[in-house]
Amino acid sequence: MAQDIGQLTENQARTELVRLAEAIAAANRAYHTLDAPEISDADYDALKQRNAAIEARFPAMKRSDSPSDQVGAAVAEGFGKVTHAVRMLSLENAFDDADVTDFDDRVRKYLGLTSGLTYTAEPKIDGLSLSLRYESGVLVQAATRGDGEVGENVTENARTIADIPQRLTGAPEVLEVRGEVYMSHADFAALNARQVEKADKLFANPRNAAAGSLRQLDASITAARPLRFFAYAWGALSRPLDDTQIEAIQRLNDLGFQTNPLTVLCCGPAEMLAQYRKIEAQRASLGYDIDGVVYKVNDLGLQTRLGFRSSTPRWAIAHKFPAELAWTRLEAIDIQVGRTGALSPVARLAPVTVGGVVVSNATLHNEDYIAGRDAKGNPIREGRDIRVGDWVQVYRAGDVIPKIADVDIAQRPETAQPYVFPDICPECGSVAHREEGDAVRRCTGGLICPAQAMERLKHFVSRGAFDIEGLGAKQVELFFKDSDLPVKTPADIFTLAARDAANGLKKLKNRDGFGETSVKKLFAAIEAKRRIPLDRLIFGLGIRHVGEAAAGLLARHYSSWAAFEAAITHATPDSPEWAELISIDGVGTVLAGSLAEAFQNTAERAAIDALVAELQVQPVLARAPLDSPVAGKTVVFTGTLEKMTRAEAKARAEALGAKVAGSVSAKTDLLVAGPGAGSKAKDAEKHGVSVIDEDGWLALIGQA
Ligand code: IVH
Repeated sequence: MAQDIGQLTENQARTELVRLAEAIAAANRAYHTLDAPEISDADYDALKQRNAAIEARFPAMKRSDSPSDQVGAAVAEGFGKVTHAVRMLSLENAFDDADVTDFDDRVRKYLGLTSGLTYTAEPKIDGLSLSLRYESGVLVQAATRGDGEVGENVTENARTIADIPQRLTGAPEVLEVRGEVYMSHADFAALNARQVEKADKLFANPRNAAAGSLRQLDASITAARPLRFFAYAWGALSRPLDDTQIEAIQRLNDLGFQTNPLTVLCCGPAEMLAQYRKIEAQRASLGYDIDGVVYKVNDLGLQTRLGFRSSTPRWAIAHKFPAELAWTRLEAIDIQVGRTGALSPVARLAPVTVGGVVVSNATLHNEDYIAGRDAKGNPIREGRDIRVGDWVQVYRAGDVIPKIADVDIAQRPETAQPYVFPDICPECGSVAHREEGDAVRRCTGGLICPAQAMERLKHFVSRGAFDIEGLGAKQVELFFKDSDLPVKTPADIFTLAARDAANGLKKLKNRDGFGETSVKKLFAAIEAKRRIPLDRLIFGLGIRHVGEAAAGLLARHYSSWAAFEAAITHATPDSPEWAELISIDGVGTVLAGSLAEAFQNTAERAAIDALVAELQVQPVLARAPLDSPVAGKTVVFTGTLEKMTRAEAKARAEALGAKVAGSVSAKTDLLVAGPGAGSKAKDAEKHGVSVIDEDGWLALIGQA
C-alpha cells in the first residue's frame, strides 16, 4: 500500500517522485512504442494522479522532466503534427544518362534558354528528411517530412543530434533548414551488435535504424543512438540565403551545419555525368549509404521561375544508382487480388540478401512478364519465360518492391512447367477478364470479391482518403474477418460504435489488444471523420483511375456532393453531363468512363449511398488565391510569347488560380495574344472575350 501523501517526508517525496517518473515513462514506452501495455489504464491514471498530488504538496521538488508536464494528448497520440510552412517535396528520378540530358533539355526549354546552365551535383543521402525551424537563431521546431504537408513534431529528438546546432549566429530571423538524418555504417554495426546483446530486434539497414531512432517517443532513446545530419535545402526564410544553390549551401555550412563535401558545380550534362561516376566510385568507401546523385539548377532565381509540379520541383532531379542484384530460387507464384480487381503475380523466393535487406517476395508484374513478352507481344529477356523452380535474378531499386529481372534457363529443373496464369479469381471464383489493350487480368467480382472489398477498405482509411487514426490496414483486416463486429464496406466503419454497444460481453474493450481508452479513441477518431471534404470522399471511394489529383479536380469543379453525384449518375456518353465531365482539364474519357461505371452499377451504388448517408460531406471551393486577379478566370494563350515559354506561362497562370484552356469559347475570360495570333483572336472577337498582349498579362499578374 502506498504511503499517505500527507505523511511523506521531503526525502521520501523526492524518492517517490523519481520512482513515479520512471514507472510512468516505462508505461508510456510499453504502450506507445512497443504497443504492449504493461499496466491497466486505471493504474496508469493512478500513477499520474499520485505524482501530481506529491508535486502539489512539494512544488519545489517538481522535476524538470515531470510526467505532469508531458502534454497528455501529444503523448497519447504519438507525435504532435506539424504543418510545414513550405511543403517538403520529393524528387523526380533519373535512371540513366539519357534521363539526365532530357532533364537538362526540359529545364532549358521551359526557361526558353539555348545556352548552357550550371547545376550543383551532390550525393543523395539514404536517410530520412528533417526540417529544422530556427527563429531568431534558436532551434524551435524539428519535423519529419510526413506526407510533405504535415509531418511529425520530433523537436526533442532532434535536439539530441550532435550535428544539429541549437543556436545560430547571424542567421535570418526565420530559417528552416532541411536535410537528411542518417546513420554511418560503423555506428549502424555497433548499434546492431548492442541489440544482439540485449536480445532486441535488429535493424535491416542504416536507414531503418535512423528512422526508428529519430521517431522515438522517448527522446532519451534517440539520444543514445548515433544519428547524423547533412543540410542540403531550406524551407521558409525571412530573407534569402544567397543567389545560388552552391553559395546558399556554403552559408548553411558557415552557420554550423554539416553539408556534404562532395557537392560541386557542373556546367551541363557531361560534367554532371562525370561527377555521378566519380561519386559512384567512392560510394563504398564513404562510410554511409547514398543511393544516387542529386542535380539542382544553381541559379536560385531560375529555380523560382521553374517552380514545382504537384510534388516535385522542376529544377532538381535524383540520378539513382543502378539497382542491387542477387540470384535465388523461385519457390512459388501466388496471385494477389488488388483494390480494382487486378490479379498480380507475386514471386515467393528462397530468402536472399539484396543490398543488405533480406528479400523473400518480389513482384512479377503480370502474365505477359512471366511469359517473357511485353504488352505489345515483343520478347523480353529474349523471350525466356519464368517458371516455379527457376533460378531467378532479384533486384531492388530504392524503396520499391523487389522485382525479378532475369532467369537462368541453364539451371532450370527438368520438371519445371510453364506457368499458367489463372482466368478465375483465386479469391472469389469470378471470371478474371483481360480487356483488349490492358496488361492486367482483373477479377470481375467487384464488391462480392473479398479481396477487392478488403483492399478497398484499406484504401478508404489510407492517408489521402479518410485517414482514420487507429484504423490502418492491419485493423481493417481484423475487422473484415471479425464475426462479432464485421466491417465489409466503408459504411460499416461508421456503424461500428453503435453495433459494438449492442454486443454485450463481446464488446471491443474486452478484447485482447483493446482497452477502454483505445476503443474510445478509435470511435472518436471515426466520429471525427463523418465530416469529410468532398475530395477526400471521392478519392476514398477507390474508383479505378481516380487518384488524389483527379479527386481534387472533380471536387473543385462540382463543389458539393449533390452536384457531383447528380452529374456522374447521368453521365452517359452524349449526355450534357458527360460533356461537362470530360471538359474538366485533367479528366479524360477513361477516368470519366470508370466513374460513370461505378455510379451506375447497382451494387457499387448501394455501397456508396450507404456510406454517404453516414456522412456530412463538406463542399470544396474552387482553388482561388484571394490576392490573385486571375483566380477562377479561364485564360487562353496564343501567338508567340517573348518573355516566357508557353509551358511557363501556363504553369504560372495555374499557380495563380486561373484555368488555362486550349481554345477560345464563350467561357473564356481572357485571351493573351502575342505576335502571330491567328484564328483565336477572331474567335475572341466573336465571343466578346477581352484580348491583351504579353506585357499586359505580366502587368495584370504583377510580374511586369
Ligand atoms: S533536395 C525540393 N538533396 O531524397 C527538393 N534531397 O527522393 C528537396 N535526399 O525527400 C530535396 N539527399 O529526403 C535533396 N542531397 C539531397 C538529398 C535529398 C537525400 C532525399 C530527401 C528527399 C528525397 C527525395
